[in-house]
Amino acid sequence: MTHQECTDRAREVLMGNDRGTFTVPTDRLYPHQWNWDSAFVALGWQAIDEKRAWVEVRTLLEQQWPNGMVPHIIYHSPAASYFPDLAWWGGTPHKNSSGFTQNPVAASCVLRLLNRARDTAYARSEARALVHRIAAWHRWFFEHRRDDASGLIAIAHPWESRDNACDWDAPLAAMKLHHTPEYTRKDLLLVPVEQRPTGEHYAQFLSIIEVGKSVSWQLTKSNARFWVADPFFMAILIAAEHDLIQIANLCEEGGVAAEAAERRRALVDAFEQLWDSQSASYRAYDLLHNERATSVDIGTFLPLYARIPSAARAAELIALLEEWLAAVRYGVPSHDPRDARFEAQRYWRGPVWLVVNFLIAEGLRHYGRADLAHTIEAGSRALVQNSGFRESFNPLDGTGSGGDCFSWTAAMWLGWLAK
Ligand code: DGY
Repeated sequence: MTHQECTDRAREVLMGNDRGTFTVPTDRLYPHQWNWDSAFVALGWQAIDEKRAWVEVRTLLEQQWPNGMVPHIIYHSPAASYFPDLAWWGGTPHKNSSGFTQNPVAASCVLRLLNRARDTAYARSEARALVHRIAAWHRWFFEHRRDDASGLIAIAHPWESRDNACDWDAPLAAMKLHHTPEYTRKDLLLVPVEQRPTGEHYAQFLSIIEVGKSVSWQLTKSNARFWVADPFFMAILIAAEHDLIQIANLCEEGGVAAEAAERRRALVDAFEQLWDSQSASYRAYDLLHNERATSVDIGTFLPLYARIPSAARAAELIALLEEWLAAVRYGVPSHDPRDARFEAQRYWRGPVWLVVNFLIAEGLRHYGRADLAHTIEAGSRALVQNSGFRESFNPLDGTGSGGDCFSWTAAMWLGWLAK
């Protein structure tokens, strides 16, 4: 596709996946609203219809639980093509949602909508209506997911971050499985089996849902079977706190800004524990079994986006990123391409995800490496031009993997790559 054809097609993808007040990631494979998908998708809507962009984030944040959590899937209406369905969650505090949260990119996307607004007054009024919801969500991480001993923030399910990432192999293997009712996967009717999480991973994912149900979604470190500090997730939260401070200042909400600044400082201090000086990388940490992940995953680069490392440490990370890029044709792979567990087509174990490239490119710019950001952008454009708006891409040959007509890939074209 030419550049213009990509732009036209990206608009068609978003409009085809538009359900009025939210956008499905793709029609049949993911027929509901997903948390971080929607936040990124708003950046694409901004290029088409600014008001629609705000509707997307508003719909998401209005699904907030009474305790502040913003759930990872919102089931606005039934859809036969997706498993697990709403009933599988056994009733959650928000009647239409899953029981977990997801990478909290919403504040950062809202700040972008504000900074690029054409109608500034409208954008400010929308941000004012959302700022307290975002703050309540960020506070929720502190109250419900902060490890007392380390101050690190835990994810309670792989679906909160990167489903089948290699980082979770050891914590999941160490977990005692909870009894799970019989089920049939529907994703495998739509996507080749080698591009999806394995059956073993699904059994583990579903088992953690049963644990959540058994404690009426009051998950804590002492009743959880999966409780992992993830540099990817935590860096996104740290960046989100940074961006919430800017939003709050624009909305003249000094108290919200001060609180976010305090949380950000504490998170950055705790984050240092994820640094592994031997391998010069940030590693996930299993807080239940006190084990560090044994290989390097894409999460090691996200601290650049959150402006966490010193210039010297950033240089080490960027050197590592350059090694990864030298090992593949298209960057950035989601796992170390030199590791034995790397799989070029299997979801979060190797494929390239444009939303992650977007965050890494931004991180590179913070550290004065616009040249490398350009390389990543050029590769991202080539992936779309050659393979279309796929869910993710094989870093070795550029072929698409997972779903097609994918909203967040289209949004990345419209809000980032098309310029
Ligand atoms: C899925 O169904 O694969 C989703 O990633 C769960 O959020």
